[in-house]
Order: sequence, then C-alpha cells, then structure tokens
Amino acid sequence: MIITRTKKDLKRYLKLIKDAGKTTGFVPTMGALHKGHLSLTECSGKDNDFTVVSIFVNPTQFNNKDDLKRYPRDEEKDLALLLSVSCDIVFIPSVEEMYPEEDKRTFDFNGLDEVMEGKYRKGHFNGVAQVVSKLFEIVKPDRAYFGRKDFQQAAIIKYLTDNYLSDLNIEIKVCDIIREDDGLAMSSRNTLLTEEQRKSAALISKTLKKYTGNYKNYSTEELIKKITEEINEDPNLKVEYVDIVDDLSLETVSEIKPGKTTICVAVYDGNVRLIDNFPLK
Ligand code: PAF
Repeated sequence: MIITRTKKDLKRYLKLIKDAGKTTGFVPTMGALHKGHLSLTECSGKDNDFTVVSIFVNPTQFNNKDDLKRYPRDEEKDLALLLSVSCDIVFIPSVEEMYPEEDKRTFDFNGLDEVMEGKYRKGHFNGVAQVVSKLFEIVKPDRAYFGRKDFQQAAIIKYLTDNYLSDLNIEIKVCDIIREDDGLAMSSRNTLLTEEQRKSAALISKTLKKYTGNYKNYSTEELIKKITEEINEDPNLKVEYVDIVDDLSLETVSEIKPGKTTICVAVYDGNVRLIDNFPLK
C-alpha cells in the first residue's frame, strides 16, 4: 500500500495505472475509518484493478467550527485498517495541499441541497462538492464509492457528477449501510458517544425498522409523529428532523411509493449528531 500526501505524487502513480490500461476505484473519506469504509474499499477492490482511498477532514463542509475541531482523527489506526483490505494507494493531503487558495465556487443542486441536512447545515453540501470535485479532478477514477448512510450526499454527488463533471465519466456507486449488531448505522461520529449515549443510539434504527416494516398502517404525518415521539422518549435523544422523501427529488412526499421512498432522520444523541435512513419497500 502506497501512502501519498501530495497531488503531484499521487498523479505520478495514477499515470502508471492509466498507462497500463488498468481501472481505478476511489473511496473518499474523512478518516476515523470503520467497517462501512472498509466495505466500500472491498467493493472497489472487486470492481477495479486499483483502489485509491483518500483521508481528508474537509474544513469547507463544516458549518460549525466546534464540530470540525471535535471530528475524530486517528491516522495510524486508519492506515492499519486499510492494510487489511484492498486499498492500493492512500492519499492524505493537508489543507494547504487541497486548498492552496480559498475555494469560492458555489454549486447549484437544483434544490437537492435545500431539504433535510441542507436546512440545518447551511453550506455543508457546497463544501462537500468543492472537495469531491477537486478529488475527482485529481484521481479521475472509473468508479467512486459512497455509503447510503449519507443518503442526501449520495444524491448530490450523483447530481454533481452528471451536471458539473460529466467529462470525467465517473460511475457513482452507492453501497448499503453497514450496521452494528444492535442496528446503529456505522459512523465515524459514533466514537464520540459516551457509553450511555451509545446505548441510547440503538433506539434510532430500532424505531425506524419498526415503522418501515409496518408503514402501510399509517399516513406519512402519523409515521413522522410516531417516530419522532418514540425516539424522543429516550432522554439522551433529540430528533432534529424526520422526513419521508422521494428517492430521486428528495422532496417530502404525502404518499409512499414502495421502492421509491425513504425515511430519513437526524437525531442529537447528547451533542453528537447522528443520521440514518431506511428505504420503504
Ligand atoms: O462522506 C464523507 O466522509 C465526506 O463528506 C466526503 C465525501 C469524504 C467529502 O469530504
């Protein structure tokens, strides 16, 4: 496994891969890796000749300075984990390497960024698009891998790729959520939870699972109300939003179309913000 910290070095390795006619899969991450990231890397390893993983905590996607400061970082552990999977190159740039000058670009996502996360994390998706577009321009992968846990992010990255970066011809692959034994969606932020908060966190997926298995008995308003109330019953948990949305437009629906609709939630567990989603089949 090769570790590079500069675009110049990375591009040198990528040129060798391209010149040999081999394919590249790319897994962008912010580090604090868990089984979800490792499964994306394994998927890439199956689909491509070479896999590049980036580790970069992107400052422009944090609308809250404390959140950026607290974001978990453990490079040594990340590298040890990547050695256990099909990762060929790790790219770990500095902030100066990625942003030699301020990135003033703004992206239009045709409303996809105005709902759910976009309402509560102003500018977040613009920052994601800034870094992902820079990374895509550097790596120019054949395929890029994202987790379904960040449901809205995946939709926005597809839009970004189709509308701003179509010349790169990158196939976006969205892979299933990997969950802990008690159902909690794996996330780097889970490491910030206290033992007690970690126990509470399981109620989020438990409640979503209960109602997605039983949604036909309720209207969408009733589902939102019941899920919100049941999660809020735990004193550590505070729902920020529950939304039931169309998988493509991300607009709130009043009628569920099986296979085309998803329940999405954001919940504070203490001061740690967790998100999750379940498809309605
Ligand atoms: O999902 C993430 O970890 C980040 O938003 C991403 C895509 C690596 C961009 O910083």
